[in-house]
Amino acid sequence: MRVVWTGVIAAGLFLTLDFATSRAADLTVRTPDLVDGKAMAEKWCSHCHMISPGEKRAGDAAPSFTSIARMPSTTEMSLRAFLQTPHVRMPDYHLSRDESADLVAYILSLSDN
Ligand code: HEC
Repeated sequence: MRVVWTGVIAAGLFLTLDFATSRAADLTVRTPDLVDGKAMAEKWCSHCHMISPGEKRAGDAAPSFTSIARMPSTTEMSLRAFLQTPHVRMPDYHLSRDESADLVAYILSLSDN
């Protein structure tokens, strides 16, 4: 009888652990991908914005990503909020959470260039 109970308890423990680890995996924060962020910026944003520090293109209505990154008011939250809301002078991209995280990480990475 003791052996059976030990087995039941062990199985229960195993299931609990299994559940706990799969939950943990769901909650894991994905690391933003700067390479993807830059690729998206090139594809979607570079018509209007200068998206990397080396670019030279004068007389643009849209601020360069480097200058956006350097503004004191720019934070991860401010960029995410900006990208989640539609803007009159910018197309609405309906970015997924991962896409906007990658773009935000890319823009923020320009601040120390
Ligand atoms: C059709 C042109 C256009 C495209 C394409 C565009 N933008 Fe913009 N964006 C603008 C303009 C113009 C502004 C200046 C803000 C304003 O006057 O509305 C701006 C402002 C911004 C700002 C805010 C700067 C601030 O002052 O806080 C961010 C961030 C930004 N754009 C990110 C992006 C990203 C990321 C993409 C690509 C997914 C993108 N933009 C694509 C035109 C564009």
